[in-house]
Amino acid sequence: MSRPVSSRATTVSALLIITSLLAWSAKEAESAGRMRSWSIMQDGTPFLKYYVQAGLTAAYLGELIPPLNSTQSTFGQTKLFAFNVTEGEDATSRLLGSMRGYTVQASATPDYHSVEVEVLEYNDGSLNGTISLQGIVTVGKTNEIAVVGGTGDFRGIRGYAVISFISSSDTLALYYHELFVY
Ligand SMILES: *[C@@H]1O[C@H](CO)[C@@H](O)[C@H](O)[C@H]1NC(C)=O
Ligand SMILES: *[C@@H]1O[C@H](CO)[C@@H](O)[C@H](O)[C@H]1NC(C)=O
Ligand SMILES: *[C@@H]1O[C@H](CO)[C@@H](O)[C@H](O)[C@H]1NC(C)=O
Repeated sequence: MSRPVSSRATTVSALLIITSLLAWSAKEAESAGRMRSWSIMQDGTPFLKYYVQAGLTAAYLGELIPPLNSTQSTFGQTKLFAFNVTEGEDATSRLLGSMRGYTVQASATPDYHSVEVEVLEYNDGSLNGTISLQGIVTVGKTNEIAVVGGTGDFRGIRGYAVISFISSSDTLALYYHELFVY
């Protein structure tokens, strides 16, 4: 479970990219009339962190499209989900919003590589809007996916999200998301 952006070279190039993007993102936020102090990656502080309560029952997660050939593999299997987003690990902790989206199993070999597209609806009383996330996720690993945009207070947002698996039961899987934005 190694954290991304750990090598020195990556950090240096990330810093260069951030520096060149800072002017752009400030301008973008200003033009939206919502200047925000989006935290910068190099200090290691996530801009947002929250827990995703992945309910594993049909009310929250279901197969939208079956595998192309289920005797061969799960390739093509598409699952639709709608999960609660909370401030703490406990499912009854403060509700910050929801995470809705789908995953498409995109590997014909037994290793699971799925394309995940999801939208965070977030409102903590101070920041309110949606954030779009997408990337490749694999089971049993800490995944990094892209923050590709947003609405409301998150207009023009860009960066990446680190998704860590915390625990699971028969009915619920818990994930921790840390968003790092430019
Ligand atoms: C999501 O939150 C609603 C409202 O608080 C609750 O009824 C539901 O059980 C929660 N779902 C999960 C999977 O925690
Ligand atoms: C599904 O895969 C099996 C096993 O490889 C194969 O025998 C079968 O022809 C495939 N079915 C279709 C519809 O392609
Ligand atoms: C949050 O943003 C949505 C979409 O812009 C808006 O409809 C809603 O009224 C906002 N909620 C609060 C509490 O500001």
